[in-house]
Formats: sequence, C-alpha cells, structure tokens
Amino acid sequence: MIVDRQGRRFRNLRVSLTAACNYACTYCVPNGKRLVAAQDELSADAMARGVAYLIEAAGIERLRITGGEPLVSTRLEPFLRQVSQFGLDDISLTTNGQLLERKLPLLVECGIRRLNVSLDTLDADAFRGIARGGDLATVLAGMEAAREAGMKIKVNMVPLRGQNLDQVLPLLEYCLERGFELRFIELMRMGHLARDPNAFNQQFVGLPELLELIGGRHQYVQASAPVDATAMRYAIPGAGHFGVIANESVPFCRTCSRLRLSSTGWLHGCLSSSNRHFVGDLLDKPRHQALPALQRLLVKALGDKQDLAFSGGVTVMKIIGG
Ligand code: GTP
Ligand code: 5AD
Repeated sequence: MIVDRQGRRFRNLRVSLTAACNYACTYCVPNGKRLVAAQDELSADAMARGVAYLIEAAGIERLRITGGEPLVSTRLEPFLRQVSQFGLDDISLTTNGQLLERKLPLLVECGIRRLNVSLDTLDADAFRGIARGGDLATVLAGMEAAREAGMKIKVNMVPLRGQNLDQVLPLLEYCLERGFELRFIELMRMGHLARDPNAFNQQFVGLPELLELIGGRHQYVQASAPVDATAMRYAIPGAGHFGVIANESVPFCRTCSRLRLSSTGWLHGCLSSSNRHFVGDLLDKPRHQALPALQRLLVKALGDKQDLAFSGGVTVMKIIGG
C-alpha cells in the first residue's frame, strides 16, 4: 500500500465503465452532441481484473462505478457480477437515472445499496434544456423504485446561474421529503468550461450564495462528514441533511483518497491533474507480472495529487508492504 507524506492513500476507486452517455448536459458537452463509447474501451473482464489488482496493489476498499453513464454499457452486468464477489466494503454507482428502473433488479442482485443520481431540476422544460436527452418523469420513477428497493440515494445538482437557481429550494424540499441527501456541486472547470472562463463565470454559483439562499428558508447547522468526503454536510434539524461539494470555494485535495480508472485503461490520481498512467496492457497480464508494474504507476499517480500544504509538490514518502 502506498502512502504520501500527507498521509493520503488510495482507498476509493472510481471506474468509468464507458465514456458514452445518453444525455448531453450543457456543462459536460458544449455542442449538445452525446458522447459515444471510445473505440478502445476495455472489456468487462479486463476492468474487473483491474479492480482486483488495485484492491491488492493500492488497498482499495470502496468502488464507485461512473461513466459517461454506466447504465448504458453492456459491460455493466458482467463487470458487476465479478466485482460483487471481491469482498469490497461498498460498491456504489453514479447515474443520471434514465435507465434506473430497468437496471434496478441487476443492481440489487449485485449488492449495490447506494446510488448518486444527477438531477439538476424538477422542471420538465428546464430538464430538457440542461440534460438535452432523457425524460424527467422516467428519472423520478427510477428514483422512487430504487428507494422502495431500499437504496440509499444522494442527488447531485449543479446550480447554474440563469438555468436552475429557482430549483434549489424545490429540489431540497423534494429530497428532504423522501430521505434523499441533496448535494449541490459547484460547477467545475472541466472540458470546454476549462477553456472558456467567461462561460464558467457566467454560470458559476458558489457555496456562500447557496447557503444564503437555503438559509432564507431553513435553519441549518454544519454536520459531520467522513474525513475524505467530497461534500461539506449540513443538517436541517428535524428534516434531514444536504451537502455542498465546493470544488472551487473549499478544495478538499488534502484528504482526497480517490483513484480513477478510465474506460480505456488510464489511471488518474487526481481529477485536476492532466497526468495519467496507462495500465490497460497490464490488465491482460497475470497477477505476478502486473502487480509490480502497477505499484510503480500507483506511486506516480499518488504523486499527482495536489499538495496544498507544501509548495514543493507531493513527495511519496513510504511504500508499505508488497
Ligand atoms: P460518495 O461520497 O460516495 O457519495 O461519492 P462522490 O461524492 O465521490 O461521488 P459522485 O460521483 O456523486 O461525485 C460527485 C461530485 O464530487 C463530482 O461531480 C465532482 O464534482 C466531485 N468529485 C468526485 N471526486 C472528486 C475528486 O477526486 N476531486 C474533486 N475535486 N471533486 C471530486
Ligand atoms: N461541474 C460540476 N459537476 C459536474 N458534473 C459533470 N460535469 C460537471 C461540471 N463541469 C457532475 C454531474 C454528476 C457528477 C458525477 O458530476 O452532474 O452528478
């Protein structure tokens, strides 16, 4: 297991099953064209082997399956059937919810108990304008079915000035009534937004403004969250919780424990670094050949994490075990 000098290690693995998505959200793609699967995406078997190797080489305990949209991938079922046997503490999935009702039996059967559903508005017209695909009623029905099946659900909303700020309070009420934890995600400078600061600045809504908006309706207090959580958590006494993932206002790099494996076989140690490390070829190799090479790449990937405490960048301090 590899630990850096700030005590960070990889505990959470996020596997992007496919780059393809059945939506084309405004903050993700500028032109409204849906993303399609890359030509060279890994097989379900190679990805599952990747998870097994990373459990061993990096000490991964928790797996989150993402995309694109993971529920559109035909590799979901064979992948899930394998990784559900690996003894992980937690397997969760992030989805836009469009195919949720249809895929629910498979998710339940494979031991998924936690879902994060992206939902930016409860207004059907605004939904079409932001998601540019799918259907609001289908998503809501999927969430209801998942709740009835006993899933723990978080809802991710990206507040966007001029598009859905009027939905902050209605979405909060909706989630509180149903026991869903709503998390507001500050817009991130990813993809086209990284190249277009004007578009970013026009739409960005930060933590202070959000809290003021919510504070006008509800009294809230800061609540505890796991040390490596993405979200700051707040409790509305007697009603429930909400969170804010304040990527811009309060970066949480110092406690980040995430590692990413892309659908085409690249390891990313940090979401905001352009560094990445190809492991796709290693996943076809037997364990005794793959693990030492993987260990070397994991040291590099951990070194890619942002270091807010030391100006000289992250130095990997110790390599514990094999
Ligand atoms: P849980 O804590 O298990 O609920 O998952 P999560 O919050 O990591 O998962 P989710 O896929 O719902 O991610 C929500 C948002 O968290 C993403 O859109 C990002 O904005 C943010 N996020 C997730 N991982 C990272 C990360 O490594 N770095 C940064 N800066 N943001 C992240
Ligand atoms: N900024 C903030 N959140 C984003 N997401 C996708 N792109 C961005 C962005 N540029 C969100 C989705 C999903 C979560 C995993 O990431 O809405 O809920």
